[in-house]
Amino acid sequence: MDRYVIRGGRRLQGTVRVGGAKNAILPILAATVLNRTKEDIILTNVPHIRDVVKMVDILRSLGAEITWSGNNMVVSTHNLSGFAISEKLMREMRSTIFLMGALLGRFGQVCISHPGGCAIGQRPIELHLKGLRKLGAQIREQHGFIYASCSRLTGAEIHLDYPSVGATENIMMASVYARGMTVVSNAAKEPEIVDLQNMLNKMGAKIRGAGTDQIRITGVTQLHGIEYSVIPDRIVAGTLMIAAAATGGSVTLENVIPGHLEAVTAKLRETGVQVREENGRLHVEAPPRLRAVEYVRTLPYPGFPTDLQAPMMAALVRAKGTSIVIENVFDSRFKHVGELNRMGAQITVATDNRRAIVHGVDKLTGAIVTAPDLRAGAALVIAGLTAEGETVVEGLEHIMRGYENLEGDLAKLGADIKRVRG
Ligand code: EPZ
Repeated sequence: MDRYVIRGGRRLQGTVRVGGAKNAILPILAATVLNRTKEDIILTNVPHIRDVVKMVDILRSLGAEITWSGNNMVVSTHNLSGFAISEKLMREMRSTIFLMGALLGRFGQVCISHPGGCAIGQRPIELHLKGLRKLGAQIREQHGFIYASCSRLTGAEIHLDYPSVGATENIMMASVYARGMTVVSNAAKEPEIVDLQNMLNKMGAKIRGAGTDQIRITGVTQLHGIEYSVIPDRIVAGTLMIAAAATGGSVTLENVIPGHLEAVTAKLRETGVQVREENGRLHVEAPPRLRAVEYVRTLPYPGFPTDLQAPMMAALVRAKGTSIVIENVFDSRFKHVGELNRMGAQITVATDNRRAIVHGVDKLTGAIVTAPDLRAGAALVIAGLTAEGETVVEGLEHIMRGYENLEGDLAKLGADIKRVRG
């Protein structure tokens, strides 16, 4: 598999444009299934990343007709025939779980294989299933498959024990055609959920409250085709902001929504970085060395995003002082620590695997490291940008899942980074 070869020590400088949000386009693509008409759904600002390629494969396997050119996509789901997703496709990307609610809403039945866990945790789905059962779905789990059915779902009051992003999105989609009103309380408030609401409402759904902890969905009987532009990816934007901070750089980001990055901006300012917003752009100006922070604590939105925990840690390993990183969202999201320590970082993880103590060191040294998952891979790239000598990052298949062209973006900002094939 390809790898990155990085020679560290360069300050990032210049301007880069952020693409569409992975965690918005995936539920939005699932939501296209709800459109029974012959009208097309035209999507723009679609990121060209592996997870979208896989979601397109899955939708095509169900009978969707999709044309994708650059960052524009046309989706027709009129001839959708299937409601069962192959285990092979399902195992390749657990986000397929979003399709449960949409397929149940469209066909009154769905069969998927249990998505299972992944590198960052067990990834249980009981909140999804509990919500769908509340809407009237009969759900059977056996031999690793989940079969759900219901002739017509009925609106219900659903309280989520935890503000799960996926469960919130799944229930929203399943409720679009349900009879009556559905109220989801303790809902997740991520911007990607607001994007899904806006896209569905443009199609003719009746959803209110996304972005707050209470979402109301009034069932309708028909949707229609639309054109819709996906919001910018706040995690890619945050990754680039943190890379600029780690290298003492001066970087401007275009196509961002600063309001989606308030927790990241606030935390970077604590390290001594200046972040300025100017007509929809974000300017990041960093000192030669960052200050350590008392803690980085990941929380559901609008707290510090768990998806930027690893990149932020990579920036703190050379900060002046000791920082504590607390991972509250996933149960196994410190897989980057071992690889960072191989580069000279001094990080210790507490026995509960939820807290890491990062003792700032003066320098990192380049090494051959392997990306264990998507965001840990981004963290290793950031560490390579600041290390002395050459760093080789292997396991790019993880990084390609969520970054359209990380090496291109960083090289444009002056980094010495090359993607080596094979
Ligand atoms: C979404 O995952 C994102 N993925 C994740 O991004 C992101 O980290 C996460 O939300 C939190 O923001 C997509 O949107 C495709 P959750 P999701 O349900 O929906 C527990 C990335 O790097 N939980 O909010 O799976 C779960 O185990 C990815 O882009 C249950 O216990 O996140 C986890 O500990 C990684 N039971 C916590 O909630 C459930 O039924 C957060 O999960 C569901 C979740």
